[in-house]
Amino acid sequence: MRKTALSILLAVSLFFGTTAVWAAPKANLQSDQAFDNKIVKRIKVENIYNHIAELSKSPRVAGTEGEEAAVDYIKDQFESYGYKTELQAFDIYSYTEPSLIELSVDGMTFESGPNGFTYGVNGEVTNELVYVGLGASDDFEGKDVEGKIALIQRGTYSFAEKVSNAAAEGASAVIIYNNTDGVINGTLGEPNDEYVPSLAITQAQGLALKERLDKGETVTATLKVEGAKTDQATSHNVVATKEATQKSTDQLVLVGAHHDSVEGAPGANDDASGTATVLELARVFANAPTDTDIRFVTFGAEENGLLGSYEFVERMTEEDYDRTVGMFQMDMVGSKDAGPLIMYTADGEKNIVTDLGASAGARLSETGEATPYGWEGRSDHVPFSEIGLPAALFIHAPVEPWYHSPEDTLEKISLDKLKEVSNIVGAAVYQVARPDTPALEKAKVAPKKVDYNFEERELE
Ligand code: BES
Ligand code: ZN
Repeated sequence: MRKTALSILLAVSLFFGTTAVWAAPKANLQSDQAFDNKIVKRIKVENIYNHIAELSKSPRVAGTEGEEAAVDYIKDQFESYGYKTELQAFDIYSYTEPSLIELSVDGMTFESGPNGFTYGVNGEVTNELVYVGLGASDDFEGKDVEGKIALIQRGTYSFAEKVSNAAAEGASAVIIYNNTDGVINGTLGEPNDEYVPSLAITQAQGLALKERLDKGETVTATLKVEGAKTDQATSHNVVATKEATQKSTDQLVLVGAHHDSVEGAPGANDDASGTATVLELARVFANAPTDTDIRFVTFGAEENGLLGSYEFVERMTEEDYDRTVGMFQMDMVGSKDAGPLIMYTADGEKNIVTDLGASAGARLSETGEATPYGWEGRSDHVPFSEIGLPAALFIHAPVEPWYHSPEDTLEKISLDKLKEVSNIVGAAVYQVARPDTPALEKAKVAPKKVDYNFEERELE
């Protein structure tokens, strides 16, 4: 029902454009700031920092003891604020990294890397290299890769697609080179019997090989991967729900982050920072008057392909789906070395979450500017967006150089960044959840690329 009404509203507003009928109500900055203060004043950034310190003591790879310890910690924290928690368990694959990775090419030494891919398979291959561009099916046309090693550039398609395409064309191994500086720490998403051994090398290494092939040289490589293993394991989402304290609007807001990290990385910023901010917002909201339910969720197995958030979405009841206003995802929200805050949506379109984030940013960011938005997937907002719920990822861009590395540590965390994001997300959520405004008569800053007046959106 709600969504039908919404589409009609959208259609009508697009048709009439910005006529008076659809004009946004005037901003009331002072009262908004007073409401913001109720949340902002209560947020203690030291709490966020301390959670990060605790969570980033060791990696939290999904399905490992590290994740289990994090899940216990998060659950205990939620419960200490008075929440009942739900643990959502789900099966995942756990991957043991290879004990040996070797790559040798005539006349070339590899000083950094090569790296394997998560879910990559073992094997030993010696054969010629064939360059196949981005590794799309079309790129193989007219190329004979049978038994040979496909040399593929990173980009546009997932690593899994590139490896699958090469395997389907008969290649016996794959080498993928980066399309930017640094090494690739990639995943093939899930195990697949069709995969062939695959390694990642740097851009410079890949371009050097391509140059030799372009000159018509036959380049032979030997590639060896040993000791890789895939097992079944269990990951968890942790869910805490704050029930509306006053006359319920029957609305639900979701606030999320992923608690897992990649192998070998303490994941202080990715994403202990988001998880810690979810915890602190949960603490602050525990005693706040709201007419809206707020569900705080930390997802497991995000790094394995958003598995926790897909699981969460799968388990959502139709009723909860219908009453969900929006999903706020925080991922990598505290690095000293990253750029300013941005909100990404999975379809590149603004939505109620980015509208609320933009106006909260205008009131609370250091620059006083509305938080900008852009187009990016790569985190737990994606499954929500795919089922048609407004969702956005709060992140700093460009991301820090320590992303997915052992250097993603507590020392790189900025209290100022944490404070800004927690204020903005906390205030944006409170705009929806506070009891004394009609549902979603909310954000006061016209977002960029406006093609409708979101204030006219009815959610009840
Ligand atoms: N925190 C990152 C997402 C991210 C990184 C977004 C940089 C934008 C810029 C997230 O934890 C992650 O690493 N995601 C994976 C994708 C996922 C589907 C496995 C990634 O981007 O490789
Ligand atoms: Zn992340």
